Amino acid sequence: MKRILPLIALLAIPFLTAHAARKPVVIAVETAHSALVLKPSADGQLMMCHYGARVADPQEFAAWNPQRRAGQGPWAYPAQGGMYMDEPALAVRYADSYRNTEPVYVSHTVRPQGNLVTTTVLLRDTLTALEVRLVYDAYQAEDVIVSHAEIINDDGQPVRLVRMASSSMYIDADRYLLTHCSGNWAAEMQVERELLTRGMKVIETRRGTQVTHWSNPSFMLSLDTDTFSETSGEVIAGSLAWSGNYRLSFEKDGAGRLRILAGISPFSSEYPLAAGETFTTPDMVWTWSGQGAGQASRNLHAWARHYGIYGGARLVPTLLNSWEGAYFTFTTKTLTDMIDDAASLGLEMFVLDDGWFGTRYPRNNDSQGLGDWEPNAAKLPEGIDYIASYAHQKGLKFGIWIEPEMVSPRSCLAEEHPEWVVRAPGRKIHEYRHQWVLDLANPVVQDFVFGIFDRTMQLSRNIDYIKWDCNRTVFNFGSDYLGDAQERFYIDYVQGLYNVMRRIREKYPDVLVQCCSSGGGRVDYGALRWFDEFWTSDDTDAAQRFKIQYGTSLFYPATVMGSHVSAVPNHQTGAVTPLKFRFDIACAGRLGMELQPKRLTAEERALADRCIQSYKGYRDIVSGGDLYRLASPYEGPYDALMYVAEDRSRAVVFLYCTDYTNRDIGGKPFRLQGLDPDRKYRVKELNVDKSCWNGDGGTYSGAYLAAGGFNPVLYRTYESAVFLLEVQ
Ligand code: DGJ
Repeated sequence: MKRILPLIALLAIPFLTAHAARKPVVIAVETAHSALVLKPSADGQLMMCHYGARVADPQEFAAWNPQRRAGQGPWAYPAQGGMYMDEPALAVRYADSYRNTEPVYVSHTVRPQGNLVTTTVLLRDTLTALEVRLVYDAYQAEDVIVSHAEIINDDGQPVRLVRMASSSMYIDADRYLLTHCSGNWAAEMQVERELLTRGMKVIETRRGTQVTHWSNPSFMLSLDTDTFSETSGEVIAGSLAWSGNYRLSFEKDGAGRLRILAGISPFSSEYPLAAGETFTTPDMVWTWSGQGAGQASRNLHAWARHYGIYGGARLVPTLLNSWEGAYFTFTTKTLTDMIDDAASLGLEMFVLDDGWFGTRYPRNNDSQGLGDWEPNAAKLPEGIDYIASYAHQKGLKFGIWIEPEMVSPRSCLAEEHPEWVVRAPGRKIHEYRHQWVLDLANPVVQDFVFGIFDRTMQLSRNIDYIKWDCNRTVFNFGSDYLGDAQERFYIDYVQGLYNVMRRIREKYPDVLVQCCSSGGGRVDYGALRWFDEFWTSDDTDAAQRFKIQYGTSLFYPATVMGSHVSAVPNHQTGAVTPLKFRFDIACAGRLGMELQPKRLTAEERALADRCIQSYKGYRDIVSGGDLYRLASPYEGPYDALMYVAEDRSRAVVFLYCTDYTNRDIGGKPFRLQGLDPDRKYRVKELNVDKSCWNGDGGTYSGAYLAAGGFNPVLYRTYESAVFLLEVQ
């Protein structure tokens, strides 16, 4: 351990003290409407003065008093050590086992690149040569700040990172209303809301893979209120871009101020950092809104579409997926018939789901075959290329399912490479869905997993889309490859996954890739850097989906939200809902169908055809427009939302009656948002012969639609309506 104060640190502190006496440094990370303001204190500790509305002259924060008390206060990236006593963003165990770090401000740089302005603040420990670079990417138009930390071990000795948050915020408000999402498989993104009290609230997962079924690494904080408002008040929202174990903590301190820390969960991850190495944390995506939760969502969505999602601006093909229509039981003819039906319905892609592979251990149910990715010639003698080419001949794109991170115990792969399985010596390798996890911390396994994707793509030059699934979490974690460095496992696994995706995107930049993890088990902005969309939930019941989609919409845009129409009674819930309701729910996201089309009646087919055609006419508004949530399904009896095109010339409104209360409630006015008050819009209900609103077909000013709105007669459970608005 180098315990000699490095020369540069000796120089930096006196310089700062002297400098601070002359003119305090104020660092303003600004967007169009928001500002995050940092300032080193007189003794060089970086403090956070403000995250909120942009101010005319942030340099005025030079007058701001950091009010630092022993143990608590506005440290910008608090480290364990010095006078700080609350949960730290950074905790380091040095080679001599001491754990104190006291980073002080050294310098900062500001680099504008059009809409993106990057501010980098360098901190250095007062004793060792450990440095922290705090990087803030400010996306001007979207009011989003993406921040991460780079922890640099310039010391001569290895250290261990005990805590390494991506980002920290310190907020001063009277009340903090936290909104976040929890859930389960087939019940993801259920909204939870609570007023924070003194003490600590933690949202964390330790599941390794499939990390977002039970909670999502995203949240909103409505400030100074105990009421969630879509349209008014200050809201801070955040979302961690990491597909592994995460931890979000909210600690309300003695002064009633709130410390938010977001980053990788430290659970079993005391991460070694050799001399000369740098650890880069995942990104934390922040936004601030002065106009309620709706604007916070729109900020995140706009940022995601432009910067946060691989292919965020691509056209969304409608599709038929084989899973709920055929499961594992199909022949080539079953699939080509489905393709014919998909084509005649006007769908644009066919996706062959699980069950197409495995020779010695054919995948005819979920008990075997994962890992053996050669097509099952006994089941599909004509081969995959035949089916993919058939789809192309019919004018459809073709997609295929893989689950490359997994292996069935009953597979050739498990027999040949037991050392690639996540396992702990001498302990049972627990099965879940008859499968084990492959050790992506191992670079050889990363090569293998990349090879699965690569070889699948070689099955036909007509493969346009891959559905990448991941159907279990990690039990009894352990990596043969990591040997005595098991504390690397959880982090190296996710970095291994991202390495594979990076290679895939280098070789296959244009292929569409869906991120599925038993539905919504991997819904996060870390994955979306590489994937085009996610499969929102295995629960395709429209009567459940409205809540799942509402929760998802708080943080993620509709363009990534796979949403399928399935058969009734629903396979998960047994519920029976009208086909129109199912379409109207699915059309608010990325529309697909997932059923056996042959079982549709002629009348249902006609309705399906109509809904698909109309969706193609407005899907660009759903995938690229601004979302306004007009009513919450949690309050009932309506769920209502609308998307408005960027130039405000078109909009699409979705209204759902989710519950029956009484007939008088039908006719409730829905006041529209986001329209241009001075322009006139023609309003047309889609997919019906007779509209539920007597004003349908008329032309109204944006101002009228915002004030009077329209009041369709919808009161029966699962009645729904879709209206298209076009400027005249
Ligand atoms: C889980 C996915 O969420 C489903 O859509 C389907 O692909 C199955 N896996 C296949 O095993």
